[in-house]
Order: sequence, then C-alpha cells, then structure tokens
Amino acid sequence: MIDTTAAYFDAGRSAAIVNARMGPETDPRLREVMTIFVRHLHAAVREARLTGEEWMRGIEFLTAIGQMCSDWRQEYVLFSDVLGVSMLVDALNHQRPEGSTENTVLGPFHVAKAPRYANGANICLDGKGEKMLVRGRITDNAGRPVSGASVDVWQANDNGFYDVQQPGVQPAMNLRGIFTTDADGSYGFYSVRPRFYPIPDDGPVGKLLAMLGRHPNRAAHLHFIIEAKGYERVVTHIFTPDCPYLAEDAVFGVKQSLIADVRRAEENREDGALWLVDWDFVLAPH
Ligand code: BEZ
Ligand code: FE
Repeated sequence: MIDTTAAYFDAGRSAAIVNARMGPETDPRLREVMTIFVRHLHAAVREARLTGEEWMRGIEFLTAIGQMCSDWRQEYVLFSDVLGVSMLVDALNHQRPEGSTENTVLGPFHVAKAPRYANGANICLDGKGEKMLVRGRITDNAGRPVSGASVDVWQANDNGFYDVQQPGVQPAMNLRGIFTTDADGSYGFYSVRPRFYPIPDDGPVGKLLAMLGRHPNRAAHLHFIIEAKGYERVVTHIFTPDCPYLAEDAVFGVKQSLIADVRRAEENREDGALWLVDWDFVLAPH
C-alpha cells in the first residue's frame, strides 16, 4: 500500500511537503525557483514566529500594493526598488569587464519616444534651473570611439519633478531627449543641475518607508540609456557629488563609479552654462 501520510501537513517538513506537490511536467526553471522561494518563505515564517494577525497585515499590504498599480504607477516595482532587490537582480545579470560603465535602476519616469536632438541642443524647455553642460565620449573597453550610439537622457527639474509628474506645469518632454554620438564617439547637451527628489511615496510603499524610519529621497541624478549595435545596453545614472542623499538613496541606486565631477563653470560663458560635467561611457561587448 502507498503511504499517503507523508503528504499530510507537518510543520517540521512544511516546505518539502509543498514542493513535493509540483507535477512532473513543471518547467525545470520554474521548479528550481519555486522550490527555493517556498523553502525560504517557510523558513522566514518560522524564524519570525509570525502570528496570524501579522501574516494578515502582510497580505493586506500586498493587496494595497496591487490596488495602487495603474498604467503609469507600478507599486510592485517600487517595492522591489526600496528592498534593494531591483539593484541586486540587475547586478547579478550585468557583470561587465573592469572599467565598463555600470548599470543602476531604470525608475518609472522613462518615456519611450523622447525627441531626437542634434548634439549641443538644450533639453530644458522652460528655461528654469541652473544651466548645465554635459558632454563626453562613448568608447568600448579598448578606448575606441563608438559612433552612432544612442544616448537617451531624462531627469527631474530643479524642483525635483519629472515633466510627466507635472503636466500643464512643465512643458511635455521637458528635460528629456535622445542624442547620437558623432564619428569620434562624442555627445553633448545642455540641461539643468538636477536636485534630489522623493520617489512616489503616497502609497503603501511610502507608508512602509515611514514605518521603517526611512526617507523616500533619491540622490540627485540624470538618467541614461546608452545603446549601440554590438554592445550591451547600459541603463544608468550620473549623480552629482555633493548631494546629501548620496549615501542613503531610497532605492540603493548609487555606485561609486557613477558619481560625476560637476564643476562650476567659469563666469560669463557665452553659452550661459553655470555647471560643467565631462562624462564618458564605456560599453561592454554583447
Ligand atoms: C527614478 O530615479 O526616477 C526612480 C527610481 C526608482 C524608483 C522611483 C523613481
Ligand atoms: Fe530619477
């Protein structure tokens, strides 16, 4: 006779019992991932000695996250971001040769079809903020220029808001644009010095941060996506060096190699720039 009692619930073997229930046709990778997740989840519940009420609060929290999600608000991604999991998954999957530009979080404010500009254009459409010139080269790991690379940039204004957060206040497509590198790999544009700002914190993730004694601020940054044929896509930022939130970015997005030298420009420049950033990107091959 088959012993069916081995499959009955037993708190001491609970994860193994649940995992043994998977069918023989289960996709092998799904089997592997689910086995690990179930094992760690059961161990966490046991280690924390969760009460029924606490588990229910957790479920209510996840429900509230789902209810907050919409076409433009992805509260689950935000949850992953503030737990440092977005950065961890990215780091594990983008290990590049020494000297290559590192990735960081994408964030929710990228817009797919930003305007394309010639190098030297100004992406600040409302003239507000302290004018900043950003320029540099894109090369491969051997220092050879990468021409024709796409440089997609977006940033918050100097009040800490993206254009998509302030329709009717900022012009559409303010502080975003796509540039293409020249034959020598160079790119350049004008924008404004960015300011730190809070991640969207009016939902359950914001409430959780407050309960944990954490602020929601991101260190001041510019976002970039760099793409070129034959090279790994880079999703990254540059950070200003004097931001008070560099060491406590709400989504753990800061890496030492991404902190730029933002210099004061000499006075009365013809182009009106008050700040200068020289920043090169180094692409790793596919
Ligand atoms: C951002 O930098 O735009 C961002 C990143 C992660 C969460 C929220 C905002
Ligand atoms: Fe951002």
